[in-house]
Amino acid sequence: MLFDAATKTRPGETIVEIGSHHGRSTIVLAAAKAPGVHLLAVDPYDEARWGGGRDAIDTFQGNLRATGVQNDLTLARKYGAEAGREWTGRPVGLLFVDGPTITRRWCLTCPRGCPISRPTPRS
Ligand SMILES: C[S@@+](CC[C@H](N)C(=O)[O-])C[C@H]1O[C@@H](n2cnc3c(N)ncnc32)[C@H](O)[C@@H]1O
Repeated sequence: MLFDAATKTRPGETIVEIGSHHGRSTIVLAAAKAPGVHLLAVDPYDEARWGGGRDAIDTFQGNLRATGVQNDLTLARKYGAEAGREWTGRPVGLLFVDGPTITRRWCLTCPRGCPISRPTPRS
């Protein structure tokens, strides 16, 4: 489902992922997107409570390198709300929220019809 949603984005659009953690979904998004589609991974990597502590960024970067997608995305080490406030308004083709927050601004920057994917809740 995530892969399919990413293949529908268009050059010039950005896929925004809130909560990258070890990069599992980041790698899926990077592999699925067409050339010219930007991928912005947002995760502060400073909050062990969510499994995203400082060690997690080393695993994230190692996983990206192992799959060869390390140059296909930009990492913003910040909270989703902060990244949303700073967003310049480039079109967002897909917003994947896998962190605990979603900001109103992210919703507002999505063009009409932009799919917003949320993960299935974990038990
Ligand atoms: C469930 S994990 C993400 C899993 C990842 N998407 C995957 O498929 O493997 C949640 C991540 O959200 C990050 N996080 C927590 N609060 C956040 C926030 N406000 N904005 C962005 N990321 C956040 C944590 O650091 C953690 O790495």
